[in-house]
Amino acid sequence: MNSVKTVRELRAAVARARGEGKRIAFVPTMGNLHEGHVALVEKAGQRADFVVASIFVNPLQFGPNEDLAKYPRTLAADQDKLVAAGCHLLFHPDVDEMYPHGQAGQTRVGVPGVSEGLCGASRPGHFEGVATVVTKLFNMVQPDLAVFGEKDFQQLAVIRTLVRDLNMPIQIVGEPTVRAEDGLALSSRNGYLSTEQRAQAPALYRTLNELAEAIRGGNRDFAALMANGTASLAAAGFRPDYLEIREASSLRLAQADDRQLVILGAAFMGNTRLIDNLAFEL
Ligand code: PAF
Repeated sequence: MNSVKTVRELRAAVARARGEGKRIAFVPTMGNLHEGHVALVEKAGQRADFVVASIFVNPLQFGPNEDLAKYPRTLAADQDKLVAAGCHLLFHPDVDEMYPHGQAGQTRVGVPGVSEGLCGASRPGHFEGVATVVTKLFNMVQPDLAVFGEKDFQQLAVIRTLVRDLNMPIQIVGEPTVRAEDGLALSSRNGYLSTEQRAQAPALYRTLNELAEAIRGGNRDFAALMANGTASLAAAGFRPDYLEIREASSLRLAQADDRQLVILGAAFMGNTRLIDNLAFEL
C-alpha cells in the first residue's frame, strides 16, 4: 500500500491506476479503524480494482465542545489494518493540506432536509462539515464509487443527497453495521467507555429491537413507542439525546402507513455519545 499526504501525490497515484484501466473505489475515514472500517474496505475491493482510503480527522465537523482534540489518532495500526483489508492507496493529509486557505472562509456545502433534525439538531454544523470534506475528498480522488457505513444512517442519507443534487458521477454504496457479539455497533468512540459502561451500552441496540418488534406486531403509536424507548434507555444508564422513528429514505417522521422505517437513537453513556439505528420493512 502506498501512503501519501498531499493532493498532488494522491492525484498522481490515482491517475496511474486509471491509466491502467482500473475502476477506483474510495473509503473515507477518520482513522482509529475497527472491523467496521475493514468491512468497508473489503466491500470496496469487491467492487473495484483499486481501493483508496483516507484518514483525516476533519475539524469542520466537530462542535466546540466535542472530542476533536482527544479523537484517537492511531496511524501505524490503521495502516496495518488497511494493508490486510486490501487497500492500495492511503491518503492521510494534514489539516493545512485539506484547508490551505484556513477553515473560517472555506466554501461550505449544505444539504437541507435530510441533514435537519436527529444528529443535525444535536450537533449544529456537523453535517455541513461532513458534506464539505466529503465533497473535497470526492473532488480530490474522483472515484467511481465510495463506500460508507450504515451505522451513520443520517450521514449516508446526506451523502446520497449531496451526490444526487450536485450531479457527482459517483456510486454510493452502504455497508451494514458491524456489531460486537452483544449487539453493540462498532465505533471508534466505544474505546472511551469504561468496563461498566461498555457492559451497559448494548441496551441501545436492544431498545431499537424492542421498538421494531412492537411495530412489526402492529403497534403504530409512534409517539408512545418513542417515549417508552427513551425511558428504557434512561433506565439502562443512558442520557438519551434522541430516539425517533422515521421513514427510511426521506428521513421524515414516520406515518402509520409507511412501510420502510428506520429507528434512530443517540444517547450518552457518561460523556460518550453513541448512535445506532435499525432499518426494516413492513
Ligand atoms: O464517517 C466518518 O468517519 C466521517 O464523517 C467522514 C465520512 C470520513 C467525513 O469526515
